[in-house]
Amino acid sequence: MSLLIKNIKSILQAETVPVKWRAGDKMSILPTLENGWIWIEDGIIKAFGTMKYLDQQDYHPNSTIDATDRMVLPAWCDSHTHMVFPETREIEYINKIKGLSYEEIAKRGGGILNSAQKMQAASEEKLLADALKRLDLITHYGTGAVEIKSGYGLTTSTELKMLRVIKKLKSLSQLTIKATFLGAHAFPAKYRENHNGYIDILVNEMIPKIAEEHLADYIDVFCDKGFYSVDETERVLDAGKKYGLRPKIHANELDFSGGIETGVKYDALSVDHLEFTAEEQIKILKNSHTMPTLLPGAAFFLGMNEPPARLMINSGLPVAMATDYNPGSSPSGNMQFIIALGAIRMRMIPEETINAVTINSAYAMGVNDTLGTIAAGKKANIIITKKIPTVAYLPYAYGDNKIETVILNGKVQEPLSADAIT
Ligand code: NIG
Ligand code: FE
Repeated sequence: MSLLIKNIKSILQAETVPVKWRAGDKMSILPTLENGWIWIEDGIIKAFGTMKYLDQQDYHPNSTIDATDRMVLPAWCDSHTHMVFPETREIEYINKIKGLSYEEIAKRGGGILNSAQKMQAASEEKLLADALKRLDLITHYGTGAVEIKSGYGLTTSTELKMLRVIKKLKSLSQLTIKATFLGAHAFPAKYRENHNGYIDILVNEMIPKIAEEHLADYIDVFCDKGFYSVDETERVLDAGKKYGLRPKIHANELDFSGGIETGVKYDALSVDHLEFTAEEQIKILKNSHTMPTLLPGAAFFLGMNEPPARLMINSGLPVAMATDYNPGSSPSGNMQFIIALGAIRMRMIPEETINAVTINSAYAMGVNDTLGTIAAGKKANIIITKKIPTVAYLPYAYGDNKIETVILNGKVQEPLSADAIT
């Protein structure tokens, strides 16, 4: 199967020399090719160029898309989500509006424990069906790759259930999916006073089983005030390391928790959230292979101060952004809203926001070799915009869907089904 996209106004993130990420000053560069075409064959980008030279190619595509006045980009990579969950949590949302903090809600048995309780009884079929609808919805907004965490189980059987659902999603969906084991998301109520008791189960029971069944690509810990201490985090990461599970951790959302330092020490692929980041943490991140990943949807929804994106980028760091799609702190998987928040709330320029949700977030989920840019040999996960005037229009017109066509593995995706839920 072959597809030609022609008369493209601009190909954004067109890559001729491969890069692993864009950092510092380079984040403001978005390589762009004007008036272009892209040739796709068997799900792979084979070539691209400018229209002027298209005639010289001997192409006979099965189908052609005319993208006059439209821009083409690599599909977004959403490197941090919790989008397998049993139920939405509007009651907590109302309590938040009335003034309760995220930590107060968690202390009252709400938050993660609330989802964990509902998860025990949830059937795999229902979890799968709901998650597939959510995948449909995020595809419609232009996402082509997504990382999904467990962490609403908190018992061996239920964590395994979540990870099996994610494994099924991998085989059923056109999106590229990575699975992360987040058994260390919270402490179950009965282990509130006995943290080591639960960590014993994580280390001796859950991690070996998950590794044996190849259910996870990465391991995560919520290393923050009121959740996992640095020592507790290290115990879990050490156990994961034995089985080759690279960390991607929740860090510094609620305090200077030591999470960033621990993530870098364990060569985490990413450290995520980072609302509490200062010069000291930036310095540590600079000498690392760890991608700082910002989740401005959660900061927005919880009414918190955003992470210091400007300071990070000005200090030479790369920055990725993701949705954190989950029922408690970010009930939206719309990456277009994330780039708007990056620009409006974190003062990132439009090109920086696009780099943060394509090449840099591809790195943060370990798929930058195959996704995140328009490059010959990469997967044809591509979005075609509606008729838009400028790149800046993408974060600027924050309330609308600017994407007209989504192509995954070289196939044009169907319009959103009527029963897709948020
Ligand atoms: O990334 N911060 C920790 N975990 C999630 C929230 C999960 C929930 O509240 O259900 C987050 O924001
Ligand atoms: Fe999260």
